[in-house]
Amino acid sequence: MRILNFVGARPNFVKVLPILQAIAAYNSEAGKSTDKITEVLVHTGQHYDYQMSEIFFDQLGLKPPDYNLGVGSGPQGWQTAEMLARAERVLLDERPDVAVVYGDTNSTLAGALAAAKLLIPVAHIEAGLRSYNRKMPEEINRILTDRLSTYLFCPTSRAVENLTREGMTTGVHLVGDVMYDALLRNIKIAQIKSRILAKLALKPKSYLLASVHRAENTDNPENLENILTVFRQLEHPLVLPLHPRTRKRIVQLDLMALLENDSNLKIIDPVSYLDMLVLEKNAKKILTDSGGIQKEAYWLKIPCITLRRETEWPETVEAGWNRLVGANKEKIAVSVNELSPEPHTLPQAYGDGHSSETILEILVPRSKEIEH
Ligand code: UD1
Repeated sequence: MRILNFVGARPNFVKVLPILQAIAAYNSEAGKSTDKITEVLVHTGQHYDYQMSEIFFDQLGLKPPDYNLGVGSGPQGWQTAEMLARAERVLLDERPDVAVVYGDTNSTLAGALAAAKLLIPVAHIEAGLRSYNRKMPEEINRILTDRLSTYLFCPTSRAVENLTREGMTTGVHLVGDVMYDALLRNIKIAQIKSRILAKLALKPKSYLLASVHRAENTDNPENLENILTVFRQLEHPLVLPLHPRTRKRIVQLDLMALLENDSNLKIIDPVSYLDMLVLEKNAKKILTDSGGIQKEAYWLKIPCITLRRETEWPETVEAGWNRLVGANKEKIAVSVNELSPEPHTLPQAYGDGHSSETILEILVPRSKEIEH
């Protein structure tokens, strides 16, 4: 069995980690038999800064990619098309039995399309998520990737329902969330290894943690200005690891002054996965427009204020741990003061922490036999 994993952007690296670990475990259980899984890791090069890419491989013990397609940044269509062309060449050389794609980035869609055109079955991890906002490039990627996939691995029952509504019922599997697997396996390691709190002189529960990188906020000057203005006005110290996209827009729009000369704001470079987990776990509250961070906040029981008007993770909102506020200054400020969910109201909506093994058992059914 030959499995080819496509990654390219920061959240993809976190999601592939538990799958690679499950493959390694499968292969070690397979012993000397000839039935081992051959795994090929392809990095599209969508993210390329050390802090956005290589640090994840270094720190998480991920093997270096077998291929780096070196695509880099560019307009949506160009970036996706370059990845598609370069991915096709790798797929023709490697001829995997299945191509696995993760989440909703341009790398996800390009990998899925290249494989589907070559009649290679596609497995989509994080299938069925919808924001129902087609202005998001990620929503286009989700819808198309799901259409192209043979295996639709859904993290939540809501995702299964979304697919059912769109007429997709074959190959749909409710498996839980691989990001939950990753968090459970890495939170203790993070707490032992990370020095980020000391480095930033932060005391647990004394600060807010923020992240902003969505096009709807970075590419809308009014939204970006609102968000940065309110960050300045909040009472607590606020830590903001700045995505390169957001930094560039802030400079272009001449908004840097909003972040300067304020001792309450700690603007830092993007951080590694382990440092981010520690920053999240010790934050008083989290403000974000990221999808993954909304879930991590939920699993770590940190109230989350989402700087968007919709979410692909409505379970977190319904449970009272997440509030959607868009880029509205008043709503952001009020929510930072108000949002305080009851600690016991945390339904387990994202699986049992073994999604990656479940996925592998579906892709490679013999793994069950090896176990027994
Ligand atoms: C991408 C994903 C988004 C995901 C995010 C995580 C798409 C459509 N979006 O958004 O879903 O949440 O990754 O970070 O795939 N840049 C650098 N260095 C890098 C990477 C990017 O400077 O290593 C800058 C460039 O100016 C680039 C911009 O960031 O043009 C945007 O990068 P891109 O990969 O297009 O999208 P993200 O905003 O990172």
